[in-house]
Amino acid sequence: MADKYEQVLELAKRRGFLWNSFELYGGTAGFFDYGPLGAMLKRRVENIWRDIFVINEGYYEIEVPTIGIEDIFVASGHVGGFSDPLTECQKCHEAFRADHLVKDIIENPDTLSAEELTALMDKNNVKCPECGGKLGNAYEFNLMFKTSIGPGGKRMGYLRPETAQGMFVDFPRLLKFYRDHLPFGATQIGKAYRNEISPRQGVIRLREFTQAEAEIFIDPGNKTHPKFKDVADIVMNLYSQKGQASGETKNMSLGEAVKNGIIAHEFLAYCLAMTHKFLIRVGVSPEKMRFRQHMKDEMAHYAADCWDAEILSERFGWVEVVGIADRTDFDLKAHAKQSQKELSVYVAYDSPKKVQKFVVKPDMGLLGPMFKGKAKKVADALKALKSEELSGDVIEVTVDGEKININKNSVKFETITEEIHGENIIPHVIEPSFGIDRVTYSLLEHSYFEEEAKEKIEDEESAELRIVLRLPPEVAPVQAAVLPLLSRDELIKPGMEIVNKIRKAGILVAFDDSGTIGRRYRRNDEIGTPYSITIDYQTLEDKTVTIRDRDTMKQVRAPISDIENNVYDLIYRRKSFEDAGI
Ligand code: ATP
Ligand code: GLY
Repeated sequence: MADKYEQVLELAKRRGFLWNSFELYGGTAGFFDYGPLGAMLKRRVENIWRDIFVINEGYYEIEVPTIGIEDIFVASGHVGGFSDPLTECQKCHEAFRADHLVKDIIENPDTLSAEELTALMDKNNVKCPECGGKLGNAYEFNLMFKTSIGPGGKRMGYLRPETAQGMFVDFPRLLKFYRDHLPFGATQIGKAYRNEISPRQGVIRLREFTQAEAEIFIDPGNKTHPKFKDVADIVMNLYSQKGQASGETKNMSLGEAVKNGIIAHEFLAYCLAMTHKFLIRVGVSPEKMRFRQHMKDEMAHYAADCWDAEILSERFGWVEVVGIADRTDFDLKAHAKQSQKELSVYVAYDSPKKVQKFVVKPDMGLLGPMFKGKAKKVADALKALKSEELSGDVIEVTVDGEKININKNSVKFETITEEIHGENIIPHVIEPSFGIDRVTYSLLEHSYFEEEAKEKIEDEESAELRIVLRLPPEVAPVQAAVLPLLSRDELIKPGMEIVNKIRKAGILVAFDDSGTIGRRYRRNDEIGTPYSITIDYQTLEDKTVTIRDRDTMKQVRAPISDIENNVYDLIYRRKSFEDAGI
């Protein structure tokens, strides 16, 4: 029997959600097209993400090129270390992730070096999974697609492996845009590219995919969140480092998790809450969702804490769909070093601080006549000395490579108390990073149901089976269907008038008059259309129609006069279905 992945993909291909890319030419692994319904579904998922992160949290969206220049990825560490271990079969020349081939032999194989993986494969006689041939030594394969910019191939570029770098590179501009105040954040929804070694997991592992990322710049001295109290009582399924040691997940409130030091701080926990809210709103089943903390040896070297939102898939098990990390000041420091620009923010203190300061005061009345044109340089060299270097009777400074001895009587020094009002700091970055394709696939899988049909369709072969996508109404690609009971002019005409009214309200509506009404309901059920509006002979008498609810298959009668508002409220304002009827 087909597993859930096959069932979902069969429907997705047949009804225009997902197609293998380049099918005409035989296709290539790691690329998928979104067909008419898939593209709309994905767009609706992205728009819900925008509603949460851009509109409600105020992290404005930017858009930068998907090609980046080499400097960016040298700074970020991708040129040096964004790789996976590759082993190639010496017989059939198929490539594999070496760490994936030993995952049943050892826990956390992704922490091993290529040499260690080779030794482990040899010791355990691991062979090519395709043909049983001998596997070659593992080596690190960089996952970035490399290209050249302009003619002549002089300037190297890379297709970005994450959208995040765009926000770091634009940090000085963003800082001005947000009027020099922390915290602030920027977001991007766009394509990312990774030349995955062997993408055999369908839409889960793509070579071109869509990320939605927020980079939130915060004061490292204050990782609280002003709205944390609004989410502190949310209970989530947490799979902490400690829990993983005993294999136990725990339902815990975010408040408790922060208080007990399980989640590092409020800001990170708040981002977990936003992620939870988003995933549920787009239609992921809460019972098939958990938040897994990275183990210490798995965490990126710059991360202070990191949690993955994972979703249970029948074929692939727990799949990471979102990574939420405290990236500390790693990225800004790295770009400051590479670009030789200061990337910091002046943060004013709540009240001025008094600090003790050691100051050196060269006596220019003595030094001037002594050193003439060099006197200023000598004075600057003296001012740069530390207190311990000023303890002898003779003080040595170096000016333009020349060592000069100065009598201590030519310098005065003292400790003064100074009032300071703020300081320059390098912000820390909190990053929720979403894989939109994985989210979209997961919600298709979680909303796919096959059930015994209650409505009878006499002319259907598979009349006993109803396939239904129980997508949340605001996510469904087609949001309403208008169906004249019979394909006759007297019913088609009012049907088209209703279609036009509903379209004007910004709702994507389909008109379908071919086949029996039962068959049309089924067609709409399997693409997740939440509401079907049927025009019958009573419509001609009293100007009412029936609205059918996809999930319960219940029907109510409603007036045509405000059908568009009624349907809009059902989709976006959670109006109850019973309230839609007269
Ligand atoms: P994995 O371990 O599964 O390769 P990752 O840890 O490399 O994932 P991140 O680098 O944290 O993933 O990327 C952030 C998000 O981008 C992931 O949570 C995932 O949803 C998405 N993503 C990463 N790689 C791919 C891919 N090859 N295809 C589709 N989505 C991806
Ligand atoms: N920006 C996080 C990632 O793509 O890995």
